[in-house]
Amino acid sequence: MSQIREVKEATDIVALIGEKISLQRSGSSFRGLCPFHSEKSPSFFVNEQFQRYKCFGCGEHGDALTFLEKYEGMTFGEAIKYLAERAGITLESYKPTAEDDSRLRLLSLLSLAKEYYHFLLTQHELGEPARHYLKERGVTAESIRLFQLGYALPSWDGLIKYLHLKKKYSLAELQQAGMVVTNQNNKIYDRFRQRLMFPLTNHRGQIVGFSGRVLDKESKEAKYINTPETALYHKSEMLFGYSELFQNIRQKREVIVVEGEFDVISSAQAHVNNVVAIKGSAVTQDHLRLISRAADKVIFSLDVDSAGVKATKRAIEQVGEMPLEVRVISVPSGKDPDELARTQPKEWRESSKASISVYDFLLQAALKQFDANTAEGKRAIIDELAPVFGRISHAVEQEVYFKKLAGALQTKEEIIKRDVERFKVSKQAKRIQSSWSNVAESAPETKLSLGAARTRRLEDYLIYVWWQGETVSSWARLHQLEPSWFSQSHWQLLIKVAQLQRQAVELAALSAQLDEETRQVLFETLANPNHQELITTDEQDREFSNTLAELQQILAREKIALINEELTELDKVAQPSSEQEARQAFLLSEIVRWQKQGMSAVQADRA
Ligand code: CTP
Ligand code: MN
Repeated sequence: MSQIREVKEATDIVALIGEKISLQRSGSSFRGLCPFHSEKSPSFFVNEQFQRYKCFGCGEHGDALTFLEKYEGMTFGEAIKYLAERAGITLESYKPTAEDDSRLRLLSLLSLAKEYYHFLLTQHELGEPARHYLKERGVTAESIRLFQLGYALPSWDGLIKYLHLKKKYSLAELQQAGMVVTNQNNKIYDRFRQRLMFPLTNHRGQIVGFSGRVLDKESKEAKYINTPETALYHKSEMLFGYSELFQNIRQKREVIVVEGEFDVISSAQAHVNNVVAIKGSAVTQDHLRLISRAADKVIFSLDVDSAGVKATKRAIEQVGEMPLEVRVISVPSGKDPDELARTQPKEWRESSKASISVYDFLLQAALKQFDANTAEGKRAIIDELAPVFGRISHAVEQEVYFKKLAGALQTKEEIIKRDVERFKVSKQAKRIQSSWSNVAESAPETKLSLGAARTRRLEDYLIYVWWQGETVSSWARLHQLEPSWFSQSHWQLLIKVAQLQRQAVELAALSAQLDEETRQVLFETLANPNHQELITTDEQDREFSNTLAELQQILAREKIALINEELTELDKVAQPSSEQEARQAFLLSEIVRWQKQGMSAVQADRA
């Protein structure tokens, strides 16, 4: 346990996260685009003193270990090991968890399977048909090495014999890794037989699965088969080529997304080596998040048929709020990138540089789909494009596409503009309607909790202001506070702990004495970007006393209301006991006290 602590203390979370995503200093924290959800303006904060991160957009938060678990998909054990290595600490007593253990075994199982297939392809005489096939398709020895291609024998148990009998992996483990299939008679056999094998790696370059392509042209089986979903293999985040070509991608800050394995390989051989393949599936947010780690621009080069156009449109939608520029390559003459790169590498290189904008792509697609010479065709094209072109925020750019569209439809720009306006109006009406129904549904609750929520916000802001500036002045402000003024117990606790200090200490030292939950709340409060907007004066002491005064006024009003309630009850008593009379007198004096407090707060406010 203590070693975990040692590792955590030796870690600088800002440096760690800063290597993965770009962070800018913002007040006492660092700020960047959240890697866990899609956004265009940064709401992800990392704090050095607290060694924590928090996204105010999606709520993700945690420390260095949770970051690695979530961002890198590491287990706790892997994350600890990774951080220990970084810090140069040797873990002595740390035992991997059962989960870690089995994960590591599956990874080495898959890595051995890759060695086995690769050996058969490159060294063994039985690999000849596969070597011949690759030669025919123009795949070089360098590509075979880079992508660690392999060959699965036309045998039911070649891999089972090697991994189970020789390397002593259990059949259950082979099953968990997705390498075998069990038939109805409970017979277990190799999933991949007589196929060209492509290892599938995750973003860290670990082999998590395989795809296999048939070699036999007569075969009735599926052209490609893939590892099914396993603990390690997730189709929705698989990008073939990502880890192998990562350096090129990062250097160019651009990724070309293609359909299949051969598109990637042939393209790379034609020196267009910043390519990844989605393997014939739909582009997901997970794919795009991986891409945005290394690139600012994503260029789709999917099939040019109507299914491909649909897939491209969906992919563009997926980019949504992500900080990625999107462009599209339409390969001429209906070839896929594999064919073009192999037969006309120069043309592919040129195409890869001549990508078009999303708007041009959509315009071309619509013109292909509908007949721009008929009235119905024109209408269909307008319906398709008006909402999209209407949202182009740059006026000059928008003008360009209005012109293009008008030209294609042989009509006037003004008419296009009118149609676009029509779409805007109907969309706005919808939005207003839906926002009203939201209000109606949540109204009762909002009303009740509004006062309390406001008080809590004010308390949070007061704590925030308290900690702005230097330690010494923060410490002076502390003595103007009382724990009981706060409605939230974590702030009561914080003030108590702070006031117990004998001298002004650094915020980090103070936060070390708090429980985890309070630490988190404190960090989130200090990093909350909304607080920056609440500041009314540049003078920190002034801001602090203004906020305190506001809180005290609320407090006074609430107390007085409570006392009044009790007094009203007491007034109803016909013949009060002497105790009740004493209570009455006390309550009256309390009212006066709170009124004074409220008044002095107001005066302080005006001073
Ligand atoms: N694919 C798959 N399973 C299938 C068919 C296709 O996983 N049954 C994936 C493969 O990654 C394939 C991609 O979808 O590369 C595109 O499929 P397709 O266009 O049919 O194949 P090609 O890429 O042209 O394959 P090849 O060049 O090997 O003939
Ligand atoms: Mn092909």
